[in-house]
Amino acid sequence: MDPSTLPLPPMKDLTVDNITENAIAMNSLCEDPRMKYVLERLVTHLHDFARETRLSTNEWMQGLLFLTEVGKICSDVRQEFILLSDILGLSILVDSIDHPKPPNSAATEGTVLGPFHTHDASELPAGSTMSADPNGQPLLVVCSVKDTAGNPLPGIKVDVWETDSSGHYDVQYAGREGPDGRCILRTDEQGTLWFRAITPVPYPIPHDGPVGRLLKALRRHPYRPSHMHFLMQGSGFEELVTALYLRNDPYETTDAVFGVKDSLVVDIERAGPEYATKYNVPEDHALLRYDFVLVSEAETTALRERNSKIALDKLGMKVRMVGGLPVPDLD
Ligand SMILES: [Fe+2]
Repeated sequence: MDPSTLPLPPMKDLTVDNITENAIAMNSLCEDPRMKYVLERLVTHLHDFARETRLSTNEWMQGLLFLTEVGKICSDVRQEFILLSDILGLSILVDSIDHPKPPNSAATEGTVLGPFHTHDASELPAGSTMSADPNGQPLLVVCSVKDTAGNPLPGIKVDVWETDSSGHYDVQYAGREGPDGRCILRTDEQGTLWFRAITPVPYPIPHDGPVGRLLKALRRHPYRPSHMHFLMQGSGFEELVTALYLRNDPYETTDAVFGVKDSLVVDIERAGPEYATKYNVPEDHALLRYDFVLVSEAETTALRERNSKIALDKLGMKVRMVGGLPVPDLD
């Protein structure tokens, strides 16, 4: 590449006021329109951040050393960058943008996946017990899965995972021999599923690393309220990553990763005579019921595009879609 032939202005004598437009120009030869747009916005916001905070060299270096520490503690079973994104509210924000739900519909809201989903859970028949923890409070879980028109959805693949009664996922134990506290089920012909679990408990996110130190400096606790994770997949439907949270948990309104939504907060009920007979449990057995509603892929795609156009319109940009994602339409 002969630098003298590049269609760029001279990059000299750059100032606080003109560095941004010149850095964007330097990146503007990128042939991938989406990458070019993302970098343009990233540079714009990073520069504005530095200008608005009057960022000192010392603070800039502190930030870089912090990110270096975040990287160093990552391993096959620990992802500190996801944790950092979670506690800054970025993960739930991206989830909300990328998985929109039709307004005024019964569609089940999504929430953060978290770092503890694995791909080795066993597929179990209806009624199975997913937790081997003898100290947990036994919980009967009975759910239905429907589409937004109310039709039951059979054959939906449902991943479920939760901690043990001490608030640890199986992957947090060094001697893990196989999956526990997790399973895969499929909805039956009536679009229902049921299984036995334990009542979820609150737990702290890993806080012995740089993210934990940041939380402490911000006078924040590291706890997540009691919850059970669900991931649902079915042909033609948008994947649903969500969780159910127990009402009146001490951390219900201060989740360290901002995952709680009112529509996902549930009461633990008593099984009562009807469920006790149908599912062969004592009448005072704990029961969790929930009706999930999935949105079609086509509806989600249309909604995502519509929301993108509205958001970029606010920035004064016409937009076209590339691979389902927006870029400015400069033609
Ligand atoms: Fe979790």
